[in-house]
Amino acid sequence: MRLLSTSCGRDRGEIRARSHMSGVMHFLFLLAAVLSCHGCPDKCLCFSQTVKCQNQDLDAIPHSLPANTKFLFVTGNNISHISVDSFPTHLQMLTDLYLSGNEIESVDAMVFDNLPNLVRLDLSNNNIQTFSGRAFPLDNKVQLLNLSRSFHSHSFMDVVLSVLQSGNLLKLTVLDLSNNDLVILPDNIFASLSSLVDLSLQNSAIISIQNGTLRAPPLLDLDLRYNSLRDLPATALEEFRLKPALRIQLAGNPWRCDCFIDNMLLWLKNSTQVIDVQNQTCAEPEALRRQPLLQVEQSQLKCSGDMDGVLETSYVFLGLVLALIGVIFLLVLYLNRKGIKRWMYNIRDACRDHMEGYHYRYEINSDPRLANLSINSDV
Ligand SMILES: *[C@@H]1O[C@H](CO)[C@@H](O)[C@H](O)[C@H]1NC(C)=O
Ligand SMILES: *[C@@H]1O[C@H](CO)[C@@H](O)[C@H](O)[C@H]1NC(C)=O
Ligand SMILES: *[C@@H]1O[C@H](CO)[C@@H](O)[C@H](O)[C@H]1NC(C)=O
Ligand SMILES: *[C@@H]1O[C@H](CO)[C@@H](O)[C@H](O)[C@H]1NC(C)=O
Ligand SMILES: *[C@@H]1O[C@H](CO)[C@@H](O)[C@H](O)[C@H]1NC(C)=O
Repeated sequence: MRLLSTSCGRDRGEIRARSHMSGVMHFLFLLAAVLSCHGCPDKCLCFSQTVKCQNQDLDAIPHSLPANTKFLFVTGNNISHISVDSFPTHLQMLTDLYLSGNEIESVDAMVFDNLPNLVRLDLSNNNIQTFSGRAFPLDNKVQLLNLSRSFHSHSFMDVVLSVLQSGNLLKLTVLDLSNNDLVILPDNIFASLSSLVDLSLQNSAIISIQNGTLRAPPLLDLDLRYNSLRDLPATALEEFRLKPALRIQLAGNPWRCDCFIDNMLLWLKNSTQVIDVQNQTCAEPEALRRQPLLQVEQSQLKCSGDMDGVLETSYVFLGLVLALIGVIFLLVLYLNRKGIKRWMYNIRDACRDHMEGYHYRYEINSDPRLANLSINSDV
């Protein structure tokens, strides 16, 4: 193969050196060489319908590719932009295009217009910052799109959106968005991917699955491993239930095993959808760390930070105690009603005696005849 592919340009001598071969072999060799390396670009290897231009420090996709190219690998080079000029000739047979590891920053409009039968496109391991919504022709046949490790940060989320929401990836069945810093998925991100069955969101720092995000595509395989999910909300579980054939991978998420996860736990224990159900472990709280989720009992799921609830119960308790004290007080009063009555009478009598004493003294004081007597009696 190597002989064929390099024989077009500089290395013709190699073929001549093999003239000791039989004439027929020689002829066949030349024929094959002429056919297969018809237009094979510099720094590329061409064999059968495959062209490989790998790790050559190319700064653009080589032009004059063989017209019958089906599989094109231009990986590990240094191509920062791809645009309508990248594929100036019509490549009717090209189905697989691998552009991984090129530091690609921009994917411009109409770049794939000359590749009408493109089915698999690998743009992984690049640094995409702009991606035209019109990069793919309207009637494209793209079924697999690999955008693994293609966007270096969350700030390019709108770029991802513009690609996926362009509305013309209608045949897309496999989408690899793994190893991107996605964090939060806008709820309409997959809404127009009406054929998508295989979605990888592995290792993408995703913190939650919002209502509606996964509703539209007819998913069969969903990889959510190694994200930052602490639980799955009821709406996500409902969306999973509506897709009975869906298979989900969830290992490597830091599940928080508190009272909010009980819905998910019920679902995990009863569902057959999670392939790696045995591999789910709690990350929090400390007491349950590394414990398999399947072995956690409902009664172990506590809400430690739930201070409001604690306060509420203590207020109710205080109220009950006060009411009880009140009731006891009234009861004591009731039981002692006779004694209290007697005590009141005693007080009343005592008061009356006292007042009568005053009254008597007043009368004595006001009687001048008894004045001396009263003064003596006071002493
Ligand atoms: C890649 O291309 C850029 C310019 O586009 C250049 O500055 C850089 O040195 C190139 N890197 C390599 C490894 O050739
Ligand atoms: C996408 O590319 C990465 C490496 O660049 C590879 O590991 C992964 O398997 C590819 N995904 C698909 C769906 O082919
Ligand atoms: C989720 O979205 C559906 C459809 O838009 C809506 O009917 C439902 O009320 C939403 N659920 C929540 C909890 O927001
Ligand atoms: C458990 O799953 C079965 C079907 O797999 C379903 O019929 C049943 O209602 C589920 N039970 C609970 C408690 O969700
Ligand atoms: C679960 O984890 C073990 C090792 O921790 C691994 O060997 C096994 O393949 C995992 N199973 C699944 C279904 O991921």
